[in-house]
Amino acid sequence: MSLLKATGLGITFGGLKAVSDVNFDIKERELVGLIGPNGAGKTTFFNLLTGVYQPTEGDIEFDGKSILGNKPYQINNLGIARTFQNIRLFKDLSVLDNVKIAYNSHMKYNALTGIFRLPRYFKEEKQANEKAIELLKIFNLEGLANEKSSNLPYGKQRKLEIARALASNPKLLLLDEPAAGMNPSETAELMETIAIIRKNFNTAILLIEHDMGLVMGICERLFVLEYGMLIASGEPQEVINNPRVVAAYLGD
Ligand SMILES: Nc1ncnc2c1ncn2[C@@H]1O[C@H](COP(=O)(O)OP(=O)(O)OP(=O)(O)O)[C@@H](O)[C@H]1O
Ligand SMILES: [Mg+2]
Repeated sequence: MSLLKATGLGITFGGLKAVSDVNFDIKERELVGLIGPNGAGKTTFFNLLTGVYQPTEGDIEFDGKSILGNKPYQINNLGIARTFQNIRLFKDLSVLDNVKIAYNSHMKYNALTGIFRLPRYFKEEKQANEKAIELLKIFNLEGLANEKSSNLPYGKQRKLEIARALASNPKLLLLDEPAAGMNPSETAELMETIAIIRKNFNTAILLIEHDMGLVMGICERLFVLEYGMLIASGEPQEVINNPRVVAAYLGD
C-alpha cells in the first residue's frame, strides 16, 4: 500500500499551470527522486504535499486518508517533514537549540506549564535536550552542539536542517535540492547522511535533485516533471534513457 498517493494533482497560479494532473505514489521507507528542468514545478509539488498551497485539482492521500485542507503544521504532525531549497535555520541559535526547538513544537506541555515552570515543563525540557543530543550524535554533529548554526560550513548546515526535520519523527521526508551548492566532498557526505537516515529512521524519502550522480546512485524510483506535467516515472535507468526525458533536459 502507498504511504502517500497524489491523484490528478494540480495548481494554477493566474493562468499558469505550475503542476498539472500529477499522479504520484511513494511506499513506506522507499527512496524516490523527483527530477526535471528549472521551473518544472518540483518545489510547487512539495508545497502542495505540505499544505503551503491548496491544489486547484486532485487529491493527496497520506496513510490512506485525504490530507487536503490541512495546514502545514497539521501535515507535519501527521508525519510529513521537509527541508527547503534555501536553508532555513535559526541562524543566531546554537546547533543544539535548532534541534530542540523542533522537538519543542511537538511537546505536550501548554503555555501555562511553561510560564510557571511546572514539573512537567522540566521533565519535557530534559527529554528534548536528551533527544536532541541523541539526534546530533547520529549525524556526527554533537561536537558542534554549542556552535552558532550560521558558523557551520554549508554542508553541515544542510545536515543540521535534515536532522531538525527528523526531530518530528516523520514517515515521509521531503528534501528539496539538498546537494545544490555543495562541493564534491560535501555531496559525498550528504550521501552518507541519507544512508544514515535509511539505517536509523523509519521514513520514506522524496528527493528533489539536479545532481544526477546522486540521484542515480541512491534512488529506487524516479518521477520526472516538465512544465508541471509528469512526463516519465519508473526505474531510474529506464527513466533517464526515456527519449522524452532526454529531450526535456537537452531543451529539445
Ligand atoms: N506562488 C507562485 N505564484 C506564481 N507562480 C509561481 C508560484 N510558485 C511557483 N510559481 C511558478 O511555478 C513554476 C514552477 O516553479 P517551481 O519553483 O515549482 O519549479 P522547480 O521545478 O522547483 O524549479 P527549480 O529547479 O528552479 O527549483 C514556475 O514557473 C514558477 O515561476
Ligand atoms: Mg525548486
